[in-house]
Amino acid sequence: MEPITFVLFGATGDLAKRKIYPALFNLFIDKKLPQAFNLIGLGRKELSDATFRDNVGKSIRDFSRRQAKDPALVDEFLQAFRYSVLDIGRKEDYRKLLLLIEQREEELKLPPNRMFYLSVGPEFFETIAENIQDSGLGSAQGWKRLVIEKPFGHDLQSARQLNRKLSEAFTEDEIFRIDHYLGKPMVQRLESLQQTNPVIQALWNNRHIANVQITAGETVGVEERAGYYDHVGAVRDMFQNHMLQLLMMTAVQLPHKSGSDKVRFKKKMVMEALEPLQKQDVAASVIRAQYTAGIIQGKPAAGYTSEPGIAPSSMNDTFIAAKLHVDDYFWRGVPFYIRTGKRMKEKATRIVIEFKEPALQAQPSTDERTEPNLLVIEMSPSESITLQLNAKDSRNKGEFKPVQIDLHPNKVELPEAYENLIHDALRGDPTFFAHWDEVELAWAWAQPILDAFEENLVPLRYYEAGTYGPAESDALLAQDGFRWWFDS
Ligand code: BG6
Repeated sequence: MEPITFVLFGATGDLAKRKIYPALFNLFIDKKLPQAFNLIGLGRKELSDATFRDNVGKSIRDFSRRQAKDPALVDEFLQAFRYSVLDIGRKEDYRKLLLLIEQREEELKLPPNRMFYLSVGPEFFETIAENIQDSGLGSAQGWKRLVIEKPFGHDLQSARQLNRKLSEAFTEDEIFRIDHYLGKPMVQRLESLQQTNPVIQALWNNRHIANVQITAGETVGVEERAGYYDHVGAVRDMFQNHMLQLLMMTAVQLPHKSGSDKVRFKKKMVMEALEPLQKQDVAASVIRAQYTAGIIQGKPAAGYTSEPGIAPSSMNDTFIAAKLHVDDYFWRGVPFYIRTGKRMKEKATRIVIEFKEPALQAQPSTDERTEPNLLVIEMSPSESITLQLNAKDSRNKGEFKPVQIDLHPNKVELPEAYENLIHDALRGDPTFFAHWDEVELAWAWAQPILDAFEENLVPLRYYEAGTYGPAESDALLAQDGFRWWFDS
């Protein structure tokens, strides 16, 4: 891998502590960092290099999935870390930064390959990109990359505006947009599951699939993020990005061994085929809801409007369920049901593919009823792929029993999403990053929902904390003769 200077904005922030340093450390243990690696952490606080390294060491102890048996290993890793104070809005600070980077590149004999990782609020993205451009930080001979994380805008218009600004300083090929769901190992396996298994590939269409269900349920509420979440809600926080990415990754039809261009092009085709919603029709296929007080895993949980920092009159959505259609040759007629919510009964991210009933089924007698075949992909909290088939129970002649076949038997500890993504960004592989085209199409698709919520065209429903959402979410499937699988 090519040598690189990793310039981290927001080096004293929460994301850096919880995710980025532990991910870098795990990559270091696995020898997946470039041999010549140089990190410059930036923040508003004055810190010495030594204190910065101590803080990074602590975050590894607190949050890394693996610990070093030998403390010398952490010290060796921390050798690469330097710190510099930077006020995001001050142009001189960027010029100072340029001098520091050039000095480090000189010292370590590194080519000027620079990766700018913006682990800061999205309101700073434009200013930082502009200052990188103006200061000359991005005009060296080597390559440059910009890594940013969602939210990419607040709606279609602001997303376009942000993209215009960023593209004044970086080309599309240089921008790596993180949607951390795309870094989850099981999401990354979706592509090959279909591509490398002709049996699955042959079934991956509307002739065999009755519906697709994608759920991302969380037990947590708004936590300490009331100020952010109350302006955002489930549509912007989860649906427009993570959930639509899961839909793209499920529906995409890929030839064997597709490169990143092909994967992203085919994902874009899925988004283009997504049947658009009109504002006045949103209520027929989208359920908007908010949690009320309830019990989660035996503990009482407050209702959303009683959470600290949330106005009692807030109409924000903490849950959304929607029925979508991908109107293309493969998926026409197959409903995709998608739901996500806070304070639900369990933390579970899963995709369920429900297959159609057998083609030549005689009217079954009661004891011969079978369950549909299901392909179940669990992404979180644990990872598995199972295929549910029907088999006759040999002890009880007439009866059919669903049996589960485990398609993911070698359970090894897998890397975290950030390890995969940072490694890919360091290598310059954009496959599992969101291309601007996908982001724009996702905002364009979600915009009528945002408008309909804003104008109150969709009634706000309520669900008790610790449940699977409001009754209307079940009715959305029931009207088509389906139900959410695995709600217990
Ligand atoms: C983030 C959202 O993008 O994803 C959070 O902002 C949410 O609100 C989180 O909790 C969920 O991620 P995961 O990986 O825990 O499913």
